[in-house]
Amino acid sequence: MNMHLNPDALLDPFETASVDRLREHQLQRLRWSLGHAYQNVPLYRQRFDALGLHPDDLKTLDDLAAFPFTGKNDLRDNYPYGMFAVPLQDVVRLHASSGTTGKPTVVGYTQNDIDTWANIVARSIRAAGGHKGDKVHISYGYGLFTGGLGAHYGAERLGCTVIPMSGGQTEKQVQLIRDFDPDIIMVTPSYMLNIADELERQGIDPSSLALRLGIFGAEPWTDELRGAIERRLGIQAQDIYGLSEIMGPGVAMECADSRGHPTLWEDHFYPEIIDPVTGQVLPDGAFGELVLTSLSKEALPMIRYRTRDLTRLLPGSGRPMRRMDKITGRSDDMLIIRGVNVFPTQVEEQVLKTKQLCECYEMHLYRHGNLDSVDIHVELRPEHLLLGSAEQQAVCSELSRQIKTHIGISTRVVLQPAQTLKRSEGKAAHVFDKRA
Ligand code: DLL
Repeated sequence: MNMHLNPDALLDPFETASVDRLREHQLQRLRWSLGHAYQNVPLYRQRFDALGLHPDDLKTLDDLAAFPFTGKNDLRDNYPYGMFAVPLQDVVRLHASSGTTGKPTVVGYTQNDIDTWANIVARSIRAAGGHKGDKVHISYGYGLFTGGLGAHYGAERLGCTVIPMSGGQTEKQVQLIRDFDPDIIMVTPSYMLNIADELERQGIDPSSLALRLGIFGAEPWTDELRGAIERRLGIQAQDIYGLSEIMGPGVAMECADSRGHPTLWEDHFYPEIIDPVTGQVLPDGAFGELVLTSLSKEALPMIRYRTRDLTRLLPGSGRPMRRMDKITGRSDDMLIIRGVNVFPTQVEEQVLKTKQLCECYEMHLYRHGNLDSVDIHVELRPEHLLLGSAEQQAVCSELSRQIKTHIGISTRVVLQPAQTLKRSEGKAAHVFDKRA
């Protein structure tokens, strides 16, 4: 067993298997998943047939590259159940993601899928540093979003005491955190900040709480934000990644023994990185779009699903599974501002480096004639509210200068009165694009 891993923890067999054993398992599971999709989902059968491909053509893992991609539109076009591979009687749960436009995408789970998911989330919480007996406060939204229930079943599976708070009611969140004294919180990083503000407002010293670990995901967040959360709350902040089309939270987890790079749970999800423009598979280490194929899912097998999330694959550490770079952007979030590609997280990084400013920010984009303009709305921290106007102006100019230097765009930084920027209760909205 690898010495980095806690020998007292009950590890899943694949966490300690050799890379060869993992690859063997993946090949066998890929064959099953392709066959299952081909036999039971008309869309896959038509697409494979059109290319003259059969699941039996997969002889090696690299052969997967010949199979067609799947995307969010396929789920929308087959709304609601057209991509399910089992009869609806065998589907015990539905979730859906609203998306910004049009129909939601609907995903389904058999009882085995729910069990697998609970096991992977339990593994994720354990790998992050949680264990049986911990009290887990869950502020991811419950309902059609996969965050709340996904975290809930996983935490229960690990043997934790779950506090199913869901999102919203921030004052109540703080009351329960104070009264129930959880060890772990699972929430989006942006909502964690909102809760931290409320703790501060109520005069509660975070060091008086038992809270020691936060499991944060569902939206891109920077290392600067991690630092801010860890400092303000005195906890360890770990990244959890996932998407509803593939399962929900728990596709990858930043393990306590290898911080910085989430481990992809490759025994259930086979990753590839592609060039987002050409669709060509890229070697490990190269940046591109993450493509995932489910290896065990029954209700909704996903073959080569294009996540739009940008990252790269890195060697495993401790476990045979590969790791990935923390996802700080998805291709859909990329803004093109006067010809410069910009991810909101790049702005987040600069805002968080400005010590007089709160962590919240909004980007407002306009077009005047043919020219884009960007306003960055920010707020002063409570302890800097009494800055004089010349000093306030200096803070804004400095942020604008840093953004120009590091990102290459000109912006106008606008200070908003305290507590006027909308605080997140789930996934934060940072961008308001008012260009036509
Ligand atoms: O956000 C599932 C989830 C819930 C993950 C709770 C983690 C915690 P969707 O609503 O389908 O599912 O959104 C999936 O959110 O493709 C990424 O773009 C983004 N995302 C999720 N986790 C992270 C993360 C859930 N840790 C989409 N870092 C994904 C960056 C993330 N982006």
